[in-house]
Amino acid sequence: MDKRKDLSRQPVRVLGIETSCDETAAAVVEDGRIPLSNVVASQAELHKKYGGVFPEVASRQHIRTIYAVVDEALQKSHLSLRDLDAVAVTRGPGLAGSLVVGMNTAKGIALAGNLPLIGVNHLEGHLYAAWVRRDEHDDHPEPQFPLVALLVSGGHTELILITDHLQYKRLGGTLDDAAGEAFDKVARLLGLPYPGGPSIQNAALRGNPEAFSFPRARLDGTWNFSFSGLKTAVLRVVREFEEKQQPLPVEDLAASFQAAVVDVLFTKTLQAARMFKAQEILLAGGVSANLALRAAFTGQNEFRVHIPDLSLCTDNAVMIATAGYYRWLHGQRDPLDLDVLPTWQLL
Ligand code: KG4
Ligand code: ZN
Repeated sequence: MDKRKDLSRQPVRVLGIETSCDETAAAVVEDGRIPLSNVVASQAELHKKYGGVFPEVASRQHIRTIYAVVDEALQKSHLSLRDLDAVAVTRGPGLAGSLVVGMNTAKGIALAGNLPLIGVNHLEGHLYAAWVRRDEHDDHPEPQFPLVALLVSGGHTELILITDHLQYKRLGGTLDDAAGEAFDKVARLLGLPYPGGPSIQNAALRGNPEAFSFPRARLDGTWNFSFSGLKTAVLRVVREFEEKQQPLPVEDLAASFQAAVVDVLFTKTLQAARMFKAQEILLAGGVSANLALRAAFTGQNEFRVHIPDLSLCTDNAVMIATAGYYRWLHGQRDPLDLDVLPTWQLL
């Protein structure tokens, strides 16, 4: 079943499939670094009217699009099933009904193509997006261990020490809202459309980050984060403006909120990198697409920083194929009755 290869001669190609939330995605990645294709069908427009992801709508839409998405990913890579070495699929965490669609598709392909199936943790996928090269001319070096990773997405805010491939130590995480969740909730408070992160970022471009002095929960002595106080502080200001029947200074509020989030994430990650003598820092997850956050990290020169290409920060299948490649290298082969794990934590 397993096509073992001479690694010194033949490239290893992994098909990745991702359907954990509201993106239907498939991609082929060579040797865990070079994307041969990257297809993402976003459902954002469908969910906009609900102000967030509607799980039942998401799983139905995955079913409608998954075959076309996988076909397109294979076509764009100019490969057929015969040329692949493994199928990697997001096993969790995510929406159960959505995960099942990707998992069943991956199982079908593994069976039909006589390929090993590799279940991948979605969060590990986000981390491995930092290993992907833009193209053959991209000479950004591979991340070196030990490194401190800040994983910021819609569901997670985690500080992680990575000592080697697939070796993680969780340093801390959010005690309440995830960073992306805070962006999404504050966007709603400000009347900005879903998804909230990009909406706040755009509004903030025209705002003054010092217009409001929002709280920064430092939680000294821990590597944890908390964003609920900040969210409440924004809510309080919004109510004050409503009571006075004054127009909401949306742009200043967005800029001041974003500055508070970036400040806390940046400061704590740098402290952790110093404390744990990391060589480098890695940013990952949907919120790492935030330009102010990226600018904070690229603006310092104490640590080399790895941030995935913008197109690979939010959910995609290149990151799943890449993490799948490292799992494949380490000998992971999953059975064809593999279950999805909607609440699976990486650490
Ligand atoms: O990683 P992701 O695509 O999905 C999860 O695994 O959760 O992250 C989605 C989150 C959303 O909360 C979205 O608002 C946030 O990432 N996000 C951003 C930006 N782009 C996406 N947050 C801040 N600034 C952005 N530019
Ligand atoms: Zn994600």
